[in-house]
Amino acid sequence: MTKILMVCLGNICRSPLAEGILKSKLPNNFIVDSAGTANYHIGRSPDIRSIAVATKHGLDISNLSGRQFNSSDFDTFDIIYVMDESNFMNVIKLAKNDNDLAKVTLILNEVHPNMNYEVPDPYYGGDNGFENVYQMLDEACDIIVKKLI
Ligand code: 4NP
Repeated sequence: MTKILMVCLGNICRSPLAEGILKSKLPNNFIVDSAGTANYHIGRSPDIRSIAVATKHGLDISNLSGRQFNSSDFDTFDIIYVMDESNFMNVIKLAKNDNDLAKVTLILNEVHPNMNYEVPDPYYGGDNGFENVYQMLDEACDIIVKKLI
């Protein structure tokens, strides 16, 4: 059983969307979860703008709950996708060994290998930022699914 973790800063905008999108494309024998590197939004529902863009595309992410990434996630998960370089640095700081480090990838490197493009943080932007994020994540998740199945 392959376990995949999506990570952003707050676990309320990008990573819950990434979780919902990837879950919807994979069979049930895959585990998909999400977490934030910060502790700001522990226990909170996703941002209403992420819930809205998910709904627009037929996904319900309203029952997800924010949690903080921690070093035991390296033991639980096989693949850890981060949204941006800052998430990457915050996650690898908690790695215990090279095996942990090797699990961490910028999600858009699945679409544009080695380019280190980031999924922009839509939190302080307008609603269009959320649609843009959705499209980026949807494209990345299609490629991830092709690799995994
Ligand atoms: P996320 O977006 O990392 O995609 O969940 C953010 C959510 C909240 C904050 C920053 C980014 N914040 O500063 O509260």
